[in-house]
Amino acid sequence: MNAIELENIRHVFRVTTGTIRRRSKEIVAVDGVSLQIEEGELFGLLGPNGAGKTTIVKILTTLLIPTAGRVTVLGFDAVKDAAALRFQVGFVLGGDRGLYYRLSGRDNLRYFAELYGIDTKKVRSRIEEMLELVGLRDRADERVAGYSRGMKQRLHIARTLLHDPKVLFLDEPTMGLDPVGARDLREIIKRLQSEQKTILLTTHYMFEADALCQRIAILNEGRIVAQGTPEELKELVSDQSVVELEVFGAETEHLDRLRGLDYVDSVSIESHDLRQVLRVQTKLGERAVPGLLASLENLDVGKVSVREATLEDAYVHLVGESE
Ligand SMILES: Nc1ncnc2c1ncn2[C@@H]1O[C@H](COP(=O)(O)OP(=O)(O)O)[C@@H](O)[C@H]1O
Ligand SMILES: [Mg+2]
Repeated sequence: MNAIELENIRHVFRVTTGTIRRRSKEIVAVDGVSLQIEEGELFGLLGPNGAGKTTIVKILTTLLIPTAGRVTVLGFDAVKDAAALRFQVGFVLGGDRGLYYRLSGRDNLRYFAELYGIDTKKVRSRIEEMLELVGLRDRADERVAGYSRGMKQRLHIARTLLHDPKVLFLDEPTMGLDPVGARDLREIIKRLQSEQKTILLTTHYMFEADALCQRIAILNEGRIVAQGTPEELKELVSDQSVVELEVFGAETEHLDRLRGLDYVDSVSIESHDLRQVLRVQTKLGERAVPGLLASLENLDVGKVSVREATLEDAYVHLVGESE
């Protein structure tokens, strides 16, 4: 059974600009997205900043009403049955808000348990269970003000699990965490999945989606540009190689010249001060190198290397993170 269904969802934000001559502008944040997520699935919604991930999560958690389309979660319509739906889901929407910094971690959970109306006989054990799950038991009596970013994020997860929701929405949960904090959080997400929760995770890291998710949808500019298991997405680049060329002073015309070659599938550029790295996807592998160099004739080229394409390259190719 599907736990989450999105049918042709569209969301338009209307914003006004200018102070004297006010003009109204429309921003299409979500542009016709359909998705089905099965019960118990850990599904990754992957996309760059501004792709529309948070907007979709807000629609699914009833915080925003979509401009058009139909959304159901566990059979509840996110618009018509919003009130009933809220009790069935949990969400962590990033950011530092929503916790009481002057209270301890445990007192924060007590407060939210009361707010959610959790059976008072069960509250104590439930709170201890959640503290254990997110690894905060030893620090539970300290004020949240002194918690690290990762600890706050874990407390947020404990908070949203108090009422034992079947479906969880985690919006970029590892954003802003140090590598160890991010790894700990990923372990917790894996544990939640083994408890049969349906989880929708958003991230802009391909490796994170690859490591955690059973299926991934790649979102770009409000549209899904690819969808499948990590293995299926890897297939998209299985016959591709990447030629990396270190260059100095590359301009748009150089990129365009490379893109014009019929054996080049995509080109992206990464700048490090004076040095730049051009990343060219091609099926030709090292046989492409002479032609690429010829197209860059008047440019200073340093190191050149050829490697197999990875899932990250597929992602870059799909969302076009090039200049
Ligand atoms: N409250 C808002 N008002 C106007 N535009 C918004 C608002 N929230 C988001 N947007 C715009 O909608 C698009 C998608 O944003 P968002 O869903 O936050 O993307 P993501 O979470 O993938 O970074 C962006 O262009 C963003 O600027
Ligand atoms: Mg976001």
